[in-house]
Amino acid sequence: DYYAVIMAGGIGSRFWPVSTQSFPKQFHDLLGTGQTLLQKTFSRLNKIIPSENIYILTNEQYQELTLKQLPEISEKQLVLEPAMRNTAPCILLSALKIKKENPNALMLVAPSDHWIEDEKAFANDVQCCFDAAEKENILLTLGIEPTFPNTGYGYIESDNNNGSEIIKVKQFREKPDYEMAKQFLAAGNFLWNAGIFIWSVHSIVAAFRNHLAAMHALFSKGMKELNTPDEKNFIQNNFSTAENISIDYGILEKASNVFVKKATFDWNDLGTWGALHEKLEKDENGNAVVGAQTLLKNSSNNIIFTAKNKTVVLDGITDYIIVDKEDVLLLFPKKKEQEVKQLLKEVSEKF
Ligand code: GDD
Ligand code: MG
Repeated sequence: DYYAVIMAGGIGSRFWPVSTQSFPKQFHDLLGTGQTLLQKTFSRLNKIIPSENIYILTNEQYQELTLKQLPEISEKQLVLEPAMRNTAPCILLSALKIKKENPNALMLVAPSDHWIEDEKAFANDVQCCFDAAEKENILLTLGIEPTFPNTGYGYIESDNNNGSEIIKVKQFREKPDYEMAKQFLAAGNFLWNAGIFIWSVHSIVAAFRNHLAAMHALFSKGMKELNTPDEKNFIQNNFSTAENISIDYGILEKASNVFVKKATFDWNDLGTWGALHEKLEKDENGNAVVGAQTLLKNSSNNIIFTAKNKTVVLDGITDYIIVDKEDVLLLFPKKKEQEVKQLLKEVSEKF
C-alpha cells in the first residue's frame, strides 16, 4: 500500500516578508493560482495515493493553518512537532507510525513548497520508484538535471546507468560549497536531489537503525504509544531531544543503498524570489505581478507581490523584488536574493 508524508514544518526565510515564522511559505499562494503550495502538494500526491494515507508533519504552531487549508484530513493524519528538528526526526517518526499500521507499506516523502507542473510525469516517476522500492531494500530519490552551481541543494553522483531507469548512487553530497558545486556540474554525471524520496517503511527504518541509531532508539521506545491516544504525550516528552539533522546529512550521505531516478517533470523548488519570478507569467518587459494592478513605465524584470488589487506605479525600476505587506515594504535588488535570509535576521534584531 502507498503512503505519503508531506513535510511542512520549515520557515522559508528567503521569502521574507511574505513568508514569516508565523505564516511560512508553504501556506501561501505564491503562484497566485488560488491554491497554496501545501494544497497543491496534497492534491498532486492524492492523484497517486489515497487521501487517508497522506500524513502532514509540521510544527505544532501551524496546526490551525494546516487544518484550515486541508479540512479533508483527519486528526490521525496530522502529526505535530513540539520543536523544529529538521527533516530526519519527522521522517523517522512518520515511518514508524506507518510501519505499525502497515508493515508492508511503501512511503513517499515530499517537501510542501515546490513547483511541479506536469503531474502526469510526476505520477509516472513515482510509480516507477514505488515498483523498485517494493522489490528491493533500497532508498530512492528523484534527481534533477542541474543547470548552475547552486549551493543550496544536494548533489547525486550516479553510476553508469546501463540503460536502466533506476541508477545506483555513487556519492550523495548535501549542500557543497561553491567550488565543489562547480566541479560537480563540470563532471557531468551529477544530478540535484529534488528532496522527494521513495522507500519501503522497512528499508528506511533499517537505515535509521544503521546511521542514526540514537534517534532510532529514542523513537522506537514509543512503538506502543504510536497511533494511540498516548502518542501526543510521547511526542511531547521525546521529540525535542532528537538530534537536529536533515535526512540528507543523516541518512542519504551515509547509506550505501541509495538509488536515483531521473525526474521527467519540470521542477523548481521556489527557493528564492528570483526562482518564483522565473515561474510566474511575465509581461513583455519581464515583470511578474502577483496581487497588484499596475502601471509600469520604463521598468523591467521586477517581481511585484502585494495584496489583491493594490495599485502599484513604477517608473525606472529594473530587476527589483517589490513586496508590500501590511507591516513591511521591501524594495530589494533581485540579484541579492540570497541575502534575504540575512536581512530578516538584521531586521528582527533591530526592531
Ligand atoms: N515537519 C517538518 N519539520 N518539516 C520540515 C522541518 C521540520 O523541522 N524543517 C524543514 N521542513 C520541511 C520544509 O518545509 C520543506 O518542505 C522540506 O522540509 C525541506 O526542507 P528545506 O529546509 O526546504 O530543505 P532544503 O531546501 O535546505 O534542502 C532539501 O531540499 C533540496 C531541494 O529543494 C534537501 O533535500 C536538498 O538535498 C535538496 O536538494
Ligand atoms: Mg527547500
